[in-house]
Amino acid sequence: MTTILVTGSAGFIGFHVAMALVEAGHTVVGIDNFNPYYAPELKCAREEILRGWSHYRPLEIDLVDKESVERCFRDHAPEIVCHLAAQPGVRYSLRNPYAYQKSNLEGFVNLIEQARLATVKRFVYASSSSVYGGNTKMPYSEDDAVNTPISLYAATKRANELMAYTYTHLWGLQTVGLRFFTVYGPWGRPDMAYWSFLEAMVHQETIKIFNYGKNRRDFTYIDDVVSGVAAALTVGSLDAYEIINLGNHNPEELMDFVETLEKLAGLRAVKEMVPAQPGDVTATYADIDKARRKLGFSPKTPLQEGLKQFVSWFQDHCELTDAVRRFRLSSTS
Ligand SMILES: NC(=O)c1ccc[n+]([C@@H]2O[C@H](COP(=O)([O-])OP(=O)(O)OC[C@H]3O[C@@H](n4cnc5c(N)ncnc54)[C@H](O)[C@@H]3O)[C@@H](O)[C@H]2O)c1
Repeated sequence: MTTILVTGSAGFIGFHVAMALVEAGHTVVGIDNFNPYYAPELKCAREEILRGWSHYRPLEIDLVDKESVERCFRDHAPEIVCHLAAQPGVRYSLRNPYAYQKSNLEGFVNLIEQARLATVKRFVYASSSSVYGGNTKMPYSEDDAVNTPISLYAATKRANELMAYTYTHLWGLQTVGLRFFTVYGPWGRPDMAYWSFLEAMVHQETIKIFNYGKNRRDFTYIDDVVSGVAAALTVGSLDAYEIINLGNHNPEELMDFVETLEKLAGLRAVKEMVPAQPGDVTATYADIDKARRKLGFSPKTPLQEGLKQFVSWFQDHCELTDAVRRFRLSSTS
């Protein structure tokens, strides 16, 4: 079994990936800084579950702190790195650019530099569908030019791909960038529409439907994403430098998504139709031929089924989702 460093292990995707890896018998070293971008209670609740595994090694570290990152590699000697920590969110990057500069650029360099010094076998990291920016050709293919990011978030993710290229070229470090497409599911992210819309429905608050509901997203269920990440960490036949889309290959209009959520929750949404937001892309749609070929990736969860799992998880975790809401209200007041 392998020692795998997972950064962002208290985050949504990191938590699920770390769980799958410990369940498969790997030793997982988990790094997170539990920052308050959204309720740390949610991050702690995820982390608590991981701590139930004896071969899970939790480390509260900020990736910007170079010495702590160095110490982590010295003490734990990870063989593979799965870098999922980042400052996410397109809209927040318009208000708080420095959070992206710190975690997504500085943090990335600290980690990849230690990874190459430690000669790890593979460095897998999260990129994003947002790198496709203003592209209009659909579906988005890894071969498309990605030179027009329309948010700072997207620009930092594209920068990560370019930095990874340099590390592969200079040091022979094998790097795999995974472009995730709107990942959703249980233990998800409170800043994303599926969570904030459901919360608003529960509390009879108005939801803003951007671009008058015409935006389309390739919603991808967390379990499908985890199977893709796990394959990216372990399959044998990858090139030294890889960029791979992990999406559902089935974009849905936001209005249909809201209607499905209403039906599953048995609630009506109070909707306000508003124009598109700066930084938002109109549609995302993943070409997943490469993921199928190289990772055996085959998303299995239709939106209806995945949202059902999310709604049921949300309803079973009222105390936690209330705490998340209180945190959100206190930090926006
Ligand atoms: N969820 C999606 O739909 C989606 C889509 C595209 C890309 N991504 C990318 O996937 C990755 C995981 O996203 P997520 O949805 O799980 O987000 P998340 O915010 O739930 O998880 C990220 C975790 O990283 C931690 N973190 C942030 N900066 C850190 C730092 N400097 N040091 C240590 N820990 C730090 C946070 O505390 C958080 O727990 C991110 O890189 C994100 O940009 C996610």
